[in-house]
Amino acid sequence: MTIQDEVNKRRTFAIISHPDAGKTTLTEKFLLFGNLIRESGTVKGKKSGKFATSDWMDIEKKRGISVTSSVMHFDYEGYAVNILDTPGHEDFSEDTYRTLTAVDSVVMVIDGTKGIEPQTIKLFKVCKMRGIPIFTFINKLDREGKDPFELLDEIEEVLGIETYAMNWPAGMGKRFLGIFDRLEDRFIQYTGNEEENVIPGSEYDQYPELTESGTFQSAKEEVELLQEAGEPYSMEAIQNGEQTPVFFGSALAPFGVESFFNTFLNMAPSPAPRKASGDLVAPEKEQFSGFIFKIQANMNPAHRDRVAFVRVCSGKFERGMNVTLHRTGKAFKVSQTQQFVASSRETVEEAYAGDIIGIYDPNVYRIGDTLVEGKNTFEYEELPQFPPELFKRATVKNVMKSKQFKKGMEQLVQEGAIQLFRGAKMDEYIVGAVGELQYDVFEYRLKNEYNVEVIFETIGERIPRWLKEEQVDYSLFDDRSKLVKDREGNHLALFKNDFSLRWFKDKHPDIELIDLFESN
Ligand code: G4P
Repeated sequence: MTIQDEVNKRRTFAIISHPDAGKTTLTEKFLLFGNLIRESGTVKGKKSGKFATSDWMDIEKKRGISVTSSVMHFDYEGYAVNILDTPGHEDFSEDTYRTLTAVDSVVMVIDGTKGIEPQTIKLFKVCKMRGIPIFTFINKLDREGKDPFELLDEIEEVLGIETYAMNWPAGMGKRFLGIFDRLEDRFIQYTGNEEENVIPGSEYDQYPELTESGTFQSAKEEVELLQEAGEPYSMEAIQNGEQTPVFFGSALAPFGVESFFNTFLNMAPSPAPRKASGDLVAPEKEQFSGFIFKIQANMNPAHRDRVAFVRVCSGKFERGMNVTLHRTGKAFKVSQTQQFVASSRETVEEAYAGDIIGIYDPNVYRIGDTLVEGKNTFEYEELPQFPPELFKRATVKNVMKSKQFKKGMEQLVQEGAIQLFRGAKMDEYIVGAVGELQYDVFEYRLKNEYNVEVIFETIGERIPRWLKEEQVDYSLFDDRSKLVKDREGNHLALFKNDFSLRWFKDKHPDIELIDLFESN
């Protein structure tokens, strides 16, 4: 197989959702298709004492090793599938966002009984900002949920993306009959078990009990309405992340999952060229290259090693090859590698664009680093900075250890574990994060790796807005719009809530407030 063939069959994606929408259940079904697991419940089953493969960081955490978003690699129907997990719940962190820089498409799972929820909005914004194609799976059709039209409206209004319903449900909950497949003009009947009965549009009259029911009839009318009034299907808009194909189904039943997965794999893009040093690097380029989107420090003090997660962007990676770290110009032989195959980590011998490999980090890599085969190096675009939402003031417990405290903090900031700010009016350290977990990791690592105890004082949730340097005027800011500086010395204001942000905007309409989510 040529490098081009290898690239073409790769599908690298993340599944985003709000906790409890069904991400784990859906992932589990995908893993079943890929024969990575043998039975349902091996992934979920927190009750049965087994653990989610995609939630395997739970296991790792219990063992006290690490906190990580995981990667799963498997072959399915001619595709080489890479699923990157985006941790939610209390594990939500900047890593969750950064994972989205390493994928080529995203599956967004929405709970049909609840609609769009906050964490989905946050993750969606990152995808939108990066123009990543988004495929929507509306889950839990086996339960009484929101009206499908209402759900589409919600996606369009709240998320600001066009929708195209790929299929359409006839009833839901107890009245659920199945789905109309719009592209293929057929009805897939829900039989209550895993068998799906497929009825071509031309044969509806052979199933009078089904097709004469009010539920079927009204759903059929809705499909016709969609045909006339809905947005037209546009592959181009989908590829640009401007339109999302929407699939209805049930991950648990499971219903509509296999057809969703097949259609998704067929429509989702393979790795595309990426910008580096002003040029576009084609994935089929011979020369291996990739960038580091995550560094995972081993939480076990007995093993101080770290793993850098590399998204391969071009060429063929081979274990033992020499690569150059563009930032320093130093060459390394990469022999300790891992590919993530569900719950186990196997040594990876070769990898292609779209694959994620873990390489041993002897404390030299940084998030965003580019690795290139040979001496002719280049650099992938810097990873975006994501706005933190939580803020805490950090001080060292024992002032005699201020030096180690600073050193540890600098190192952890460089790794991207947390974001550090300095008070503008007062000299203080303010640590920003997108999830509470980042503080736990930060505290733990400062103690274990630098022998420093940190005291946190909560500032709370804040809305950060960056300022234009020429517009910075210290007298305009108070505690409700706390002024701080980021690592580069740029000023930003931390607004207490929407109200104080609006109040400030009303009062000082000339001052430009920059939202990183909108401007990256
Ligand atoms: P998450 O990873 O997005 O957090 O969600 P997860 O898959 O863990 O699913 C959350 C809950 O929703 C689980 O129930 C799961 O069984 C249920 N669920 C997922 N998909 C469907 C679906 O299509 N229909 C219905 N009715 N339920 C679904 P739980 O009671 O919290 O967990 P469990 O004890 O059943 O495992």
